[in-house]
Amino acid sequence: MTNMISVNAATSGQFNIGGDLQINRIGFGAIRITGEGIGGEPKDRAEALRTLKRLPELGVNFVDTADSYGPYVSENLIHEALSPYSGLVIATKAGLTRHGPDIWRPLGRPEYLRQSVLMSMRRLGVERIDLWQLHRIDPKVPRDEQFDAIKQMQQEGLIRHVGLSEVTVEQIEAAQKFFQVVTVQNLYNLVMRQSEDVLEYCQRANIGFIPWFPLAAGSLTQPGSPLDALAKEKHTTLSGIALPWILKRSPIMLPIPGTSQLKHLEENIAATNIELSDEEFQQLNELGQREWQRHQIDKPQYLKDLEK
Ligand SMILES: NC(=O)c1ccc[n+]([C@@H]2O[C@H](COP(=O)([O-])OP(=O)(O)OC[C@H]3O[C@@H](n4cnc5c(N)ncnc54)[C@H](OP(=O)(O)O)[C@@H]3O)[C@@H](O)[C@H]2O)c1
Repeated sequence: MTNMISVNAATSGQFNIGGDLQINRIGFGAIRITGEGIGGEPKDRAEALRTLKRLPELGVNFVDTADSYGPYVSENLIHEALSPYSGLVIATKAGLTRHGPDIWRPLGRPEYLRQSVLMSMRRLGVERIDLWQLHRIDPKVPRDEQFDAIKQMQQEGLIRHVGLSEVTVEQIEAAQKFFQVVTVQNLYNLVMRQSEDVLEYCQRANIGFIPWFPLAAGSLTQPGSPLDALAKEKHTTLSGIALPWILKRSPIMLPIPGTSQLKHLEENIAATNIELSDEEFQQLNELGQREWQRHQIDKPQYLKDLEK
């Protein structure tokens, strides 16, 4: 029997990145199409390619990656599956080096950032990167030097729009003296709420907020998740609660759930059809705040697992 409900990312609503790049609010995070510890080729390369190729059919037109995913593996697979990217916005990042699985070290020297941008352009097969994000501000390099290098690359036309990742409000304001910050990508989900102040700042300034770990790295989708009861009541999946909640939290919210599996991608986009009432949203909000406070005192197992 065919499923009569249309599954399309357009249901999540739209956002204009930098005022001129319109995307559907739910996107795709391309970290999971790599190997163990986000290193090397994915276990099932064919499935990773199938997942990527399905994105445009599902109306997903915003893909987030980084040169450090693999490294290089995620950008290369995106090129193979999606180039020439008709109607797609591919956002990438740099500023973290990889010396092995699960090792991430900031490197923000201007000449390294420039090389990273040029190499991402080559791997993705583009003449300009639509949205380039500084993955981390390197604490060992004066931040103004990093921002100035980015400003120059934007002026030269290598980068169309600039975003930041894992930053404070003070850092966003410092960067804005050099270039317009159009997106901020910080850790955020129902149960990890340390970036509420940054989210509210972005909402006031109409900066797109890209919550990484929107599913708490998958822990919200595991049995025993705090979302179990409501998912059962609404006859939906766990991502069918987590993603509608995060989308309803703010109109500038641009979640990029990551997956290596086609069926999970389809489930995540289908989640945009689930409507939460204001009361359900509020109940979840309170539950999330409680879990977040509990996390500070006595970490629940599912959040401990996430930090391994
Ligand atoms: N800026 C940063 O520092 C930073 C850091 C981390 C991530 N990110 C970005 O944020 C994106 C999202 O983060 P993430 O992928 O790490 O975490 P996430 O989206 O919170 O969760 C991904 C995990 O959940 C699982 N999953 C996804 N959909 C599912 C479903 N419907 N049912 C059950 N399990 C499901 C995935 O496993 P399967 O593969 O088995 O589906 C994967 O293990 C990344 O792809 C990346 O682009 C940015």
